[in-house]
Amino acid sequence: MSQPDIIVCADRDALNLEAANRFVELADAAISERGRFMVALSGGSTPKALFELLASDVWRDRVDWDHVHLFWGDERGVPKDHPDSNYGMTNGALLSKLSIPETNVHRVRTEAGTPDEVAEIYAGELREAFGLGAEGVPSFDLIHLGLGDDGHTASMFPGTTAMHESERLVVAVWVEKFQQHRITMTPVVLNNAAEVQFLVAGASKVDVLPQVIAGPYEPDRLPSQTVKPSRGQLRWILDREAAAKL
Ligand code: 6PG
Repeated sequence: MSQPDIIVCADRDALNLEAANRFVELADAAISERGRFMVALSGGSTPKALFELLASDVWRDRVDWDHVHLFWGDERGVPKDHPDSNYGMTNGALLSKLSIPETNVHRVRTEAGTPDEVAEIYAGELREAFGLGAEGVPSFDLIHLGLGDDGHTASMFPGTTAMHESERLVVAVWVEKFQQHRITMTPVVLNNAAEVQFLVAGASKVDVLPQVIAGPYEPDRLPSQTVKPSRGQLRWILDREAAAKL
């Protein structure tokens, strides 16, 4: 694994610009080399402004969306039109403003069955989209992740076992603190990506960030520490507030 790259931006606007530039660059490279850009997006609140920027008049046409395939690193166990839905947030901020082919948008279909069934279905959709066999592991060009102030990422929360999953691509977890089922990619997929970018902003992350990046390895308490791409590049794109104690 290469050394993580840590980028500290002056503020959230600068973080969004940094992430948007990197998104465009990685998309251009992947599309010219392999004809498509395979990216898994994060949920939560941090990426919303980035999505709005990418959907803006200035940025929208810098990406060849016809050749971009969007997935989600995790999804809440709610319908797609529920206020908690990560797909719903992305649709409002980005998808609804693009002419991206519907077949390129790989939503976690939370209505398709029990949480465990939904996880299995999504794993199958991943393998199908990447043209893999039953045991294949997709290698995303880019995976965006956020960081919770409790050290979780995607929906690998302390108190769950998702961060220790070594076989399945996607699992369903019950998250006690939110009294909610969630569907999450596991380190099997996350650590097979060509590039993983944590986008972390705000003072609420100032204490957890140095623990995750530089503290002792405690994956049960800090599940984000299990994100260590085996061949790919890990980047932390931070604002100054979140990085204040690094
Ligand atoms: C989710 C996200 C989650 C998020 C972190 C940070 O479904 O909520 O995938 O892992 O990235 O909780 O969330 P904020 O960006 O809102 O701080």
